[in-house]
Amino acid sequence: MLNFSPSCERNQQPIFEQLQGFLADSRHVLEVGSGSGQHALFFARRMAWLNWQPTELAMNYEVLRANLMAEGGDNILLPRMLDVCQSRWDVDQADVIFTANTLHIMGWPQVECFFAGAAANIEPGGQLIVYGPFRYNGEYTSASNAEFERWLQQRDPASGIRNFEAVNELADAAGLKLRADVTMPANNQLLVWGRSE
Ligand SMILES: C[S@@+](CC[C@H](N)C(=O)[O-])C[C@H]1O[C@@H](n2cnc3c(N)ncnc32)[C@H](O)[C@@H]1O
Repeated sequence: MLNFSPSCERNQQPIFEQLQGFLADSRHVLEVGSGSGQHALFFARRMAWLNWQPTELAMNYEVLRANLMAEGGDNILLPRMLDVCQSRWDVDQADVIFTANTLHIMGWPQVECFFAGAAANIEPGGQLIVYGPFRYNGEYTSASNAEFERWLQQRDPASGIRNFEAVNELADAAGLKLRADVTMPANNQLLVWGRSE
């Protein structure tokens, strides 16, 4: 496994325990920013009723492809290149768009692209599911998240832990309504929005 992620190893089981309920009636998942592909592998193996479409930025694509070629399963599709700000997302079918730990890595313009692109590509009745750390009314949910954001911004001043209210406003403006906000281990959230029929 290239670029193995220890955090994926820790969070995949708790995320799966939530996803299996939200995805019980879903068929086609598009994952944005799949990284090493660990989540794609872990979730697709446990939810055999789904097709899982991993994606990555061009610069990170080869690592994802190599990992999935080495370990992929029947319901994991060949990964595709996707930058959330590209003019048209290369998506066949998606009743779910899922992303983990990406919104605090992207700059805010990319976060805006993400919600616009997701809303445009989720089928009516589908869901958008986002996992990661968030602030609420500007407050961190833990001291460790405040420390994490300082570290993030030393690397890239455009990155940062997003305000829940700001992302929910983007979702709302794009026609996505909040269905669930699940508090997860290690001061993370799982946010679920639905697109009406
Ligand atoms: C911290 S990694 C998370 C990877 C994986 N989802 C996980 O949970 O381990 C953040 C990911 O966001 C992706 N990313 C950053 N900017 C992006 C953009 N504009 N469009 C699509 N993906 C992006 C990066 O390529 C990277 O794989």
